[in-house]
Amino acid sequence: MASHTASAPGKIILLGEHAVVYGRPALAMAIDLRFRCKITPSDSVSINGWEIDRAKHPYTSHILNEHWSGGIDIETSSTIPSGSGLGSSAALCASLNAAIMASGGASDEEEIAQRSFDAELKTQGSASPVDTSASVHGQVIAVNLQGGRPLWDISHGGNNWNISHIDVPRMTMVIGHTGISAPTGPLVAKVRRYYDHSNFAKDIVDEIGSLTEDAALALSSGDRVGLGAMMTENHKLLSILGVSSRELDKLVDASLPYSFGAKLTGAGGGGSMVALTDRPDRVCEAIERHGGTPYIISSGQPGAMVEMD
Ligand code: MEV
Repeated sequence: MASHTASAPGKIILLGEHAVVYGRPALAMAIDLRFRCKITPSDSVSINGWEIDRAKHPYTSHILNEHWSGGIDIETSSTIPSGSGLGSSAALCASLNAAIMASGGASDEEEIAQRSFDAELKTQGSASPVDTSASVHGQVIAVNLQGGRPLWDISHGGNNWNISHIDVPRMTMVIGHTGISAPTGPLVAKVRRYYDHSNFAKDIVDEIGSLTEDAALALSSGDRVGLGAMMTENHKLLSILGVSSRELDKLVDASLPYSFGAKLTGAGGGGSMVALTDRPDRVCEAIERHGGTPYIISSGQPGAMVEMD
């Protein structure tokens, strides 16, 4: 039976994670680590040769329940470490939805983004569409910010997220993975509890929103000094929200002497940080010296796409 394969990139959040869950702006960039899914219609439902355990594969199960009838063999491979803050679950959702749509002869970025957000939301309980939209579209996306090329709108729970494509000058960054797996759902829930009970937390979320608006201007004009300073400030605000960790702070501090700025990226708690730099080799050395795994990345990565077998 005919197989279909699609892949989708991981992502980093440049600014605005957590605050984006409450409808504030965010900036996200696709990275050149990818998740790949090959699907083949079948008599049973299996992943990588094993009958699917729905508890172990909640994103996949949700997508199959909503968008597939009958049996299916799914083969996956990924270069995105899971629980790394680099969008592995979003890339899984984007690549599986793209492969399923391709098997029906269709391809519609907006529909893939909607379906992928829905899978993240239902599985995590609380989410914004930033990770899934960044994975589906690739490149750099802005959420709830003026000035880009509008892509799509996604609404849920009284929030609306307006997603746009923005052109940015080529930039080099270094990701530092702590090696500590930190699932997004519990961290989003932790911030939600703080936000619901504290005006101080709401003020911090607002401050992250304003900072992200300023950072979008610095990003578009290629002002790396300004952008870096705002990334470092964003890290401090995320620490106040309680989502940094000793390991993340260590990698951020180690990178700063060779960077324009650095911050945790994604949900935090463990996972990864990112540094904006023109000395990537020095940052890589510093990250390795402090126990992290570095990856040099640059902008301009493609989004979800169908691949020929
Ligand atoms: C995780 O990559 C980003 C968060 O803002 C969660 C979300 O937006 O769904 C922490």
